[in-house]
Amino acid sequence: MGLDEATQKPHDRLAAALAADLDAVNSLIRDRMASRHAPRIPEVTAHLVEAGGKRLRPMLTLAAARLCGYDGPFHVHLAATVEFIHTATLLHDDVVDESARRRGRPTANLLWDNKSSVLVGDYLFARSFQLMVETGSLRVLDILADASATIAEGEVLQLTAAQDLGTDRAIYLQVVRGKTAALFAAATEVGGVIAGAPPAQIAALRTYGDALGVAFQIVDDLLDYGGSDAVIGKNTGDDFRERKVTLPVIHAVEKADVAERAFWSRVIEQGQQAEGDLGQALAIMARHGAMHSARDEAVMWAGTARDALAVLPDHPLRHMLEDLADYVVARLQ
Ligand code: IPE
Ligand code: IPE
Ligand code: MG
Ligand code: MG
Repeated sequence: MGLDEATQKPHDRLAAALAADLDAVNSLIRDRMASRHAPRIPEVTAHLVEAGGKRLRPMLTLAAARLCGYDGPFHVHLAATVEFIHTATLLHDDVVDESARRRGRPTANLLWDNKSSVLVGDYLFARSFQLMVETGSLRVLDILADASATIAEGEVLQLTAAQDLGTDRAIYLQVVRGKTAALFAAATEVGGVIAGAPPAQIAALRTYGDALGVAFQIVDDLLDYGGSDAVIGKNTGDDFRERKVTLPVIHAVEKADVAERAFWSRVIEQGQQAEGDLGQALAIMARHGAMHSARDEAVMWAGTARDALAVLPDHPLRHMLEDLADYVVARLQ
């Protein structure tokens, strides 16, 4: 391994190793995100797609398929499918969360309106199903249809878990597994399935995707409190404003004294938030080491992800996926 390779982030190394496949995915995405009949569709999709995004999920599909020896054409369709499902959920999620920034740009709901975001999200979602049908595999259809239902369940469960200090780790985990890890797990699993990998390898890929997705979302939730807007390309503090009960809040509420409990009840349950409350929330969390505890949980999930890959072929892509698990948490530094 050259020095460049050694110092590159695992995400960049994966992108380099999969460059030709990723190019094919990006052209398929560009081709299918257009619409001849409704000009609003390419406007909105181009705004979001050209802003980039990390393309993490399509890379997972491509890497899983290649690492299991696949050399047909359909991993590209599956990777584009997964990115379309992801992009559709982002359009919907920014309406639900009333978010103003995504991928370093104003959100589509802000630039156009909620109606456009919801309908273009539906369009992308439908396009994703057309793409996966082209693979001819009922099994991948089953996996991705399940994941789509689970994502929606996770987002809806989060609606009732928000603003409720009774939300505990188990409920949080159910939300995260639904809204985020389900698509990561499907992304890796369909890569193995299209490659015709043995069942134990497919199961391992699914475990990897699930655990990676949980670690990723815990970290995303930490960055919502402690990240920088410029780095994450989104506004921090959205979760606090939306009164989401994420892992650092759960930790802090568990340790709260009477005065702190009253604070959390006012800002999260009653939604009475004033200038300075976000700073106060951060101070309370710091006092109880809530960010550190949540980070430790993310490290644990990243370890589960890494370990799951042991049954897969000893291949450079496998090692990049292993390193990616650690990197997901290292984003916090
Ligand atoms: C954002 O995912 C949604 C979450 C699950 C936190 P990413 O951070 O992968 O989004 P992009 O595609 O890179 O913008
Ligand atoms: C991400 O949810 C999951 C989906 C988009 C389904 P979040 O609301 O936590 O993600 P960000 O922070 O907006 O990217
Ligand atoms: Mg959101
Ligand atoms: Mg959300």
